[in-house]
Amino acid sequence: MIIARTIAEVRKTVAEWRKEGLSVGLVPTMGYLHEGHASLVDKAVSQCDRVVASVFVNPTQFGPNEDLATYPRDFDHDCKLLEEHGCAMVFHPEVSEMYDENAATYVEILSDMPKQLCGKTRPIHFRGVCTVVSKLFNIVLPDKAFFGQKDAQQLAIIRKMVKDMSYGIEIVGCPIVREADGLAKSSRNTYLNAEERKAALVLSKSVFLGQKMVKDGEKDADKVVAAMVKNIEAEPLARIDYVSAVDGVTMMPTHEIADGVLVAMAVYIGKTRLIDNFIVEE
Ligand code: PAF
Repeated sequence: MIIARTIAEVRKTVAEWRKEGLSVGLVPTMGYLHEGHASLVDKAVSQCDRVVASVFVNPTQFGPNEDLATYPRDFDHDCKLLEEHGCAMVFHPEVSEMYDENAATYVEILSDMPKQLCGKTRPIHFRGVCTVVSKLFNIVLPDKAFFGQKDAQQLAIIRKMVKDMSYGIEIVGCPIVREADGLAKSSRNTYLNAEERKAALVLSKSVFLGQKMVKDGEKDADKVVAAMVKNIEAEPLARIDYVSAVDGVTMMPTHEIADGVLVAMAVYIGKTRLIDNFIVEE
């Protein structure tokens, strides 16, 4: 596996692959990789001749009081996982390689879409995500890019950005990967102590509860959300940021359960903010 630290190295290698007529998949990550990321690489390897993964903790998507400085990192482990799963190149740039000190250009969706859900408490987050993903698209020029459904709002926003900006890139969404007990895999799970780890199960249990209500025929989204909220509030270590039902494409609130509706949550367990969700499939 090639380890590239500069934009020029990535461009050179991708250009060589292109000359050979090979297709290219991109898996953008912030590292500290787990089986959720591995599933994205597996999907990419199954659909593309060469897969590039980026490992870059992107400063522009963290707010001033968020965990940029403490975000977990283990590049050796990341390389091992990526190589084992058939990744051809990992792009691991310094911040200075990605952002010139005078950089002043951002990619931002100006509708209400990024202001919903996570955007309510993370106002600059999606501007940072769109900017870095857009840069990665311009650097790697992939045919396809792979993102997890766990970050459902991010996935919807990237799809919108790709459409609005006419990127010729197919966005592939990949299902949430869970621990055996249900907790959605996340690099931030590592922040949880033993007691919090147990308490964190309230997220997936609430997702499963909501899914069951929908399966049993509940059509009132407010009732589904209320039952999930009640369940989470029964856990003393949990503090709700939001639990919401929204249109799966626009992210705008909805009161009706219908095909494609996203029921999403962000919940603090102690100081750790975790997210989980499900999509209604009818
Ligand atoms: O989902 C993530 O890990 C990040 O938001 C992404 C897409 C790699 C952009 O930094």
